[in-house]
Amino acid sequence: MTEKDFVPGPFPKKLSKGQATWTAPSNIALVKYWGKGPDQVPANASVSLTLDVCTTTTTVYYTPLKKRAPDFSFDILLDGKINIGFKPKIHTFLRRIDPYLPFLKDVHIRIETTNTFPHSSGIASSASGMAALALCLLEMEKVANPDADEEYCNKKASFLARLGSGSACRSIQGNVVHWGRHPNVEGSSDLYGIPYPYKIHPVFENYEDTILIVHRGQKQVSSTAGHDLMHNHPFASRRFEQANENVAQLQDILATGDLDRFIQMVEHEALTLHAMMMTSVPYFILMEANTLKIIKRIWAFRKRTGTHVCFTLDAGANVHLLYPQNERKEVVQFIYDELVILCGEGQLIRDRIGSGALAR
Ligand code: PMV
Repeated sequence: MTEKDFVPGPFPKKLSKGQATWTAPSNIALVKYWGKGPDQVPANASVSLTLDVCTTTTTVYYTPLKKRAPDFSFDILLDGKINIGFKPKIHTFLRRIDPYLPFLKDVHIRIETTNTFPHSSGIASSASGMAALALCLLEMEKVANPDADEEYCNKKASFLARLGSGSACRSIQGNVVHWGRHPNVEGSSDLYGIPYPYKIHPVFENYEDTILIVHRGQKQVSSTAGHDLMHNHPFASRRFEQANENVAQLQDILATGDLDRFIQMVEHEALTLHAMMMTSVPYFILMEANTLKIIKRIWAFRKRTGTHVCFTLDAGANVHLLYPQNERKEVVQFIYDELVILCGEGQLIRDRIGSGALAR
């Protein structure tokens, strides 16, 4: 499919006043996306686990305008309060998706959104937030064109979400999601994420992700700025190749449930992402001292117990601990005994693999 396939033809029905509500999850990448071209086209393929607890629920209320407006007419409320801070980002998003949802200037839109995780926790809300918003806006197209099929709608939701935040395209459908054109992955595309199309061993079915909030609040370098620094990065082209090699190798790891290789790849990917940040020009570090302490305690614990807990990192200081459900008791005890003290007060989220967005 190409971008053109997402430009709709004339709609059989006219839009009247209505509303749509969706809950979309966050996701955590196993093979990371870091570096992109224009319009959020990724420099390499990536694979993520969909989360279950960290979600955004968004309702879009739409009211047809008497006359098509010259610009988008919208309000945004976070937790019931008007939020003008989000307006520029949402405006950019609406501008990017306008060719694909050409009725957006014909309506006034009120966006009401809430997250299950604290806004200031340092957990990126852009993936779940943009996915939930894309799904709500697409709902208007579905009302105007009730014949659109489900597969097309899922692809289009992911396509639209990508234009808000790249990783958001992996927050629509499936418990493991692939995004990015890759010769070994059938149906893969730079334009949208797809449910992982290969075998996944049952050990991953109930995988858990406990997120340790090491650092709350705004990052010193946004992910947009970080992606940009991959343009003149001395190691970029090798990194993009390596990520695609890892995506290929992951197929066998996920199929066989080889947790030792899984751990090695996931941790290597996390550290490589941060190594790219540390070797950008200008360089920057998003890890905090406690991030490193947690990593070392995980390694010591794993060595001592032979369990399969491993870590991964987003573009921030927080640590995601991934482990199979049958090791939960031991790992959770370890988290409370040794790791909680390295996080802010009570700052952890017990999450697990989830299955994608839901209409409400
Ligand atoms: O979706 P963005 O543009 O915020 O980029 C996020 C990239 C990482 O979270 C660091 C990695 C990934 O693949 O999710």
